[in-house]
Amino acid sequence: MPDSVSLSLLARYPLCRPEVSGLPRYNAGLSEDEVRRRYGLQNIVKLGSNENPYGPSPNVIAGWAALAERLGRYPDAAAETLRHDIARLNGLESDRVLVGNGSEQIIRLIAEAYLSPGERVVTVRPAFGLHEIYPRMMGAEVDAVPVGSDATFDLAALQTAVKRPTKILMFANPSNPVGCMMSGAALQDLIDACPSHALIVVDEAYREYAEEDSEYPDAQVILEKQPRPWVILRTFSKAYGLAALRIGYALTSSADVAKTLDTVRDPFNTNMPAQVAACAALADDAYMKDCIRKTVSERKRVAGALKGMGLFVAPTWTNFVFVRVPVPADQLATELLKRGIIIKPWKEKGFETWTRISIGLPTENDTLLQAVADLVL
Ligand SMILES: Cc1ncc(COP(=O)(O)O)c(C=O)c1O
Repeated sequence: MPDSVSLSLLARYPLCRPEVSGLPRYNAGLSEDEVRRRYGLQNIVKLGSNENPYGPSPNVIAGWAALAERLGRYPDAAAETLRHDIARLNGLESDRVLVGNGSEQIIRLIAEAYLSPGERVVTVRPAFGLHEIYPRMMGAEVDAVPVGSDATFDLAALQTAVKRPTKILMFANPSNPVGCMMSGAALQDLIDACPSHALIVVDEAYREYAEEDSEYPDAQVILEKQPRPWVILRTFSKAYGLAALRIGYALTSSADVAKTLDTVRDPFNTNMPAQVAACAALADDAYMKDCIRKTVSERKRVAGALKGMGLFVAPTWTNFVFVRVPVPADQLATELLKRGIIIKPWKEKGFETWTRISIGLPTENDTLLQAVADLVL
C-alpha cells in the first residue's frame, strides 16, 4: 500500500507525461443505448456522429454469416487483400496503402511516427478533434487557424501559418464540423506555401459526399505532382456505412511513408470481419453512390428548412450541417435529447452557439426539423 505522502506526491506529479495529463478528451458523442438509459426512451434519432443511416451494402450483409466460422483465427496482419483492392481502385502500388482501425488510428500513427516535442502542426479551427489531440499528445504545438466569418477556410491565414516552420499540415476536406470545401487551386496554393519537408495530410473522410461537385479537388492528382511527403486519409465509416467495424485507410506519397507508419502500427490493428466487409463494400460502388444521392438530397432539404427558420447554416459538402442557433447549442441539444434526438453541440470556445447535425433517414430528419421548430421558433 502506498503511504499518504507518496499518494499526495503522485497527485502532484502524475506518472504520465505532462502532455497526456493536460490533454482534452475527444468528445465521442452519446450512444443510442446511453440516451435510452438516461431518458427512459425507446426510439432514438441518432444525428450526432455523421454515420450513413442506410447502413452497409447488401454485399456486406450477405457475406456476414460466413465470417462466424473464421472467428477463431487471427486476421491477416497485413490486410493484403483489402490493401490490394484499395491500391487497384486508386491507381497506386499496395505498398503505398496502409489500413487502420478507423482512420482515426492512422492520425495517431502519423503523430507517433513524425512528431517530436516542440514541432509545429498547422490545422484549422473548428476541426475534427483528433487532428489536434494526437499531435499535442506527442508534445507538438498546434496552430489551429480559425475558419472565416463566412464559415469557409481562411486561405490567406492558412498560407501565412504554414510559412512558419511547419512539420505537418493536417486538415479535412471537406471539413468537419463546418462542412466547407477547399478548391483545387486553393489546395495547390496552400501546398506551395508549405516548407518543402512538411508532411501534408489531407483527411478525406467525407470525400464521397463532395465528389459530385466539379470544384472538389482530386487531392491525389495534385499531391502526386509534389516532391514532398503526403498522406490522404479515407474511411469506411461514412459513405460505406461501416462505422461499427472501425476501418479506414491511407494513401501515401511513397512506400517509405507507408513503411514508417507501418512501423508504429499494432500488428493486428484491423480485424478480419472489417477487412472482409470493406472489400465487399468497395465492390458495390452503385450502392454507395445511391446512399450519397439520397443523403445529399436530404441535406439540401434539411438545410433549406433550417434556413427557413431563420438559422444560419454553413455551406456544406458533407453528410451533415453546421448550424448557428439563437440559444447555447448545449441547451438545444439537451432539449432534443429529452425527445430522443442526438445532435452534436460544438463545445469549443467561440462556437458555443453552433451545432453539427448529421443527415439521417427522411423520417428522422422530419422528427428533427419538427423538434427544432418547436424549440427555436
Ligand atoms: C474528418 C474526420 N476524420 C477522421 C474521422 C475518423 O473516422 P474513422 O471512423 O475512420 O476513425 C472522422 C470521424 O468522424 C472525421 O470526421
